[in-house]
Amino acid sequence: MTRLPTDSPSSHPAPERLQKILARAGFGSRRAAEGVIASGRVTVDGVVATLGTRADPDAQRIAVDGTPIRLRPTELTLALHKPAGYVVTANDEQGRTTVYHLLTDAPPNLRYVGRLDQQTEGLLLFTTDGELAHRLTHPRWGVEKVYEATVSRVPNAAALEQLRRGVALDDGPTAPARVEVVRSSADRSVLRIAIHEGRNRQVRRMFDAIGCPATRLVRTAFGPIVLEGLPRAQARELSQAELRALRDAVDLHD
Ligand code: URA
Repeated sequence: MTRLPTDSPSSHPAPERLQKILARAGFGSRRAAEGVIASGRVTVDGVVATLGTRADPDAQRIAVDGTPIRLRPTELTLALHKPAGYVVTANDEQGRTTVYHLLTDAPPNLRYVGRLDQQTEGLLLFTTDGELAHRLTHPRWGVEKVYEATVSRVPNAAALEQLRRGVALDDGPTAPARVEVVRSSADRSVLRIAIHEGRNRQVRRMFDAIGCPATRLVRTAFGPIVLEGLPRAQARELSQAELRALRDAVDLHD
């Protein structure tokens, strides 16, 4: 098979890069879609595509492994109020109840955006948009996540400062965080902590490290999207304004 020419000044550039079209058709992030193109599995009007190929999905036949791709007319992005006890995974080998049990009629390519621990509650985003999911969880964009943690004990000023400046964890020091005490009583307190990283069990490990383990952890915001107003175990589609703000947060302006 011949390979399609890449962009050249003399060609008539079709509107979109192939990796963008493939990401929209459910082949993962643009980076993942580039891998599919580079492996020679993609054809445009029967001609093998290369990185740099542009195509018009309305006018040309784009196929992967010979099967025409199907573009979804619109992507779906949801916010879920995850209760404690649900596992964030597509398939749980141990048969535990997953967050997908809370979503009815979820399209098969609806993926969660970043994990929450089984006992963590709060805002969990889902999207069919592979590129959006990729960027929202990639350290390059460092999207802020806000959590409210109920901790046993009341951290002293030095412990709070440690959280703010960075805590030494076994996978390296944490980046600076915003930390506020929301309320405290004699033996426990509720703190709000905003982080830009997304390491495994990071917030719990940060509180463990200062000697004040979290007994309850709720994610209240993910970038510009907030949990407030969404009842527990309920999901809702993001509004157009929310979606625009979320995409702007990761430099997806198109
Ligand atoms: N940090 C944690 O420790 N757990 C979560 O679920 C999310 C962030």
